[in-house]
Amino acid sequence: MNDSVQTPLNIDPDWWRQAVVYQIYPRSFSDQDGNGIGDLVGITLKVPYLKELGVDAAWLSPFYPSALADGGYDVDDYRDVDPKIGTLEDFDVMAKTLHDAGIKLIVDIVPNHSSDRHEWFIEALNSPKGSAARDRYIFRDGTGTNGENPPTDWVSVFGGRAWEPVGDGQWYLHIFAPEQPDLNWENSEVHEDFKKTLRFWSDRGVDGFRVDVAHGMAKDLTEPLPSEAQLQEIPKEGNHPIWDRDEVHNIFEEWREVLNEYAPPRTAVAEAWVETHRRPAYARSTGLGQAFNFDLLSSRFNAQEFRDIVALNLELAKKSGSSSTWVLSNHDVVRHATRYGLPIDAEKTNEQVGREWLLAGGPEDQLDRELGARRARAATLFELALPGSAYLYQGEELGLHEVADISDDQRQDPTFFRSPGINIGRDGCRVPLPWEALGDAFGFSDAKPHLPQPHWFAQYAADIQDADPTSTLNLYRAALRLRTELQTDEELEWLETGNDKVLAFRRPNGWVNITNFATFDVKIPEELTEGEFLLASVPFDGEKLPGSTSVWFKQD
Ligand code: GLC
Repeated sequence: MNDSVQTPLNIDPDWWRQAVVYQIYPRSFSDQDGNGIGDLVGITLKVPYLKELGVDAAWLSPFYPSALADGGYDVDDYRDVDPKIGTLEDFDVMAKTLHDAGIKLIVDIVPNHSSDRHEWFIEALNSPKGSAARDRYIFRDGTGTNGENPPTDWVSVFGGRAWEPVGDGQWYLHIFAPEQPDLNWENSEVHEDFKKTLRFWSDRGVDGFRVDVAHGMAKDLTEPLPSEAQLQEIPKEGNHPIWDRDEVHNIFEEWREVLNEYAPPRTAVAEAWVETHRRPAYARSTGLGQAFNFDLLSSRFNAQEFRDIVALNLELAKKSGSSSTWVLSNHDVVRHATRYGLPIDAEKTNEQVGREWLLAGGPEDQLDRELGARRARAATLFELALPGSAYLYQGEELGLHEVADISDDQRQDPTFFRSPGINIGRDGCRVPLPWEALGDAFGFSDAKPHLPQPHWFAQYAADIQDADPTSTLNLYRAALRLRTELQTDEELEWLETGNDKVLAFRRPNGWVNITNFATFDVKIPEELTEGEFLLASVPFDGEKLPGSTSVWFKQD
């Protein structure tokens, strides 16, 4: 550890278990140097906002040097800051300012792939077949007489082929965009370099890591390689050639040793899209320690679905010894205020419904903005009363809707370019935040923001909401303040509501949440609303619980 470590000794090593973590997408948060792209100084200046909001930690999506082929998830150098976003010194000031405000700092780490501008990849391209430089990535000979065809017919996650030729008969694998060559985790240099990166940021005072595509790092590419059709048929459980292989956990055990060199140990949360019952392995204390649970994010605003998800995930958390995570939105999916306002399709997840609506051009006549926003507020009070940690995505505290009408020439997401006709991409949830109703770029920047902001952002601006006691921003602030006071053991007891559209649960200290998932008023048993009324997602007179509403009480 170097001398710049800023971790005070009195930090509870379990701080993360029930933390509220606020995800910052740095390029779209706040731009202070006037280049239209958010930066680290911008984040530092908004620390008072985060403090007033009441979050426990900030998680930063990638801020490393990058050509932005995938919004920064294409990393040129894991141990530096993108000059478009700031400097390492800006990073240190930001970390200190957050820590002084009592806010922890989590950074994104992208170990499945580097960018094609990483010095290792450039070296690999300039080195011959079979060289040590090529072994850090996944190169294979092409098929056909001169290797002119790809090694397999695999399709990348973003669409299009998963292999790119390098001109000498060899091809490299990219599970995502061509600018994101997959690293070879059977190579010991790759292991050593990532441990160095974990220490580099931990030494700079980072409290934890969000691990991108954790379930894809270990691969078995023994010949003969299967076809795409065969790949699709192999269950993604343990021995699939690419996803969720058992030996991926050996990597995380190694990482855990590094993270435990620090006091308190650095935390880590896996982004692992795996079968639910496979999640605990990522979350156990000998591994990363926590794993994202995206079940709520995929679900409709529906009592039975929410209840099943909560029950299952609390059980899984017990199994792993970790706490559950809860997520309603992030930088990869349509904002939940919008998803909850779309017509239901029982055949599809809510996340799919959102994506398909965007693809259809975001028809306004299908979206009930008010209902979506109202349900989003209720879902938030439900989520924040649950045991475990909640991950909030920037802008959800403003009740932002998805921006659907970005013109094709302004889109940035590689999924838009690589999957024509299948995905419109994720730009609509990455539009720079509105801070001021009347400011340039709504207070985000003096320059033209890198993604266009719609005119309706004015009514969602933070300054307007700040002054309005009934705003979504003030609801989040009140909820987070109360949550800190009420936080208790990671237990929950379901209460009988007499209505299958209403869920109620009590935490061990008498903190009660009641949520009406119906669109109409419901009379709830009196004993449920006994005690002190704390907060409601919309005005509530104590008689009937209005539709799409959640309330908090405190009972003795
Ligand atoms: C993760 C990130 C996503 C990115 C992908 C490839 O899923 O959340 O934004 O595109 O990994 O790095």
